[in-house]
Amino acid sequence: MAISNFKKKIAVFLSGEGSNLKNLYKFSKTKRSKFTIHLVISNKKNAKGILFSKSKKIKSYSIGKKMSVFEKNSLLLIREENIDIICLAGFMRILSKEFVQKCKIPIINIHPSLLPKYKGLHTHARAIKNKDQFSGCTAHHVTSKLDAGKIILQKKVKILKKDNEITLSKKILKVEHQIYPIALNKIC
Ligand code: GRF
Repeated sequence: MAISNFKKKIAVFLSGEGSNLKNLYKFSKTKRSKFTIHLVISNKKNAKGILFSKSKKIKSYSIGKKMSVFEKNSLLLIREENIDIICLAGFMRILSKEFVQKCKIPIINIHPSLLPKYKGLHTHARAIKNKDQFSGCTAHHVTSKLDAGKIILQKKVKILKKDNEITLSKKILKVEHQIYPIALNKIC
């Protein structure tokens, strides 16, 4: 039997660029990966991440604007495709408590701050405004509470005096790419 048959089947939920998706996909093709990217679902029709997944022949869907419709259809796909783990990667919506409960498989996320600091949006601006010495990113389990699930991995990034929101977000994104596949492998 091929080794890939033992790998966990991952669904990625995204809303935009998809740089984390691209990075997870790249890692999934390496020997140390314990997962394959099997399904990609976007809540935005023209998300760049969806164009990438289509180009790699991954099953890809864009599902409506209404969250209730998104969740209902995603759940069907997750079950139909026997998905083992959901990875949120630049997914800019909050999943409902009902979805998280019904899913019954692990859901993980990558967040651009050192949780529990700066849950939600504008994490870089908030870290700079507060003159923090460090920021970073956190891979964590998703629960029905925003950015509050158990932490899997975290990595710090030094904030320099010359940093602004853009330079800091670029530095942190690089580190997101380092830790997300490792965090996912860890829970596979
Ligand atoms: C990343 O910082 C991610 O942590 C956040 O959205 C940003 C964009 O991610 N949630 P991607 O390039 O779409 O993967």
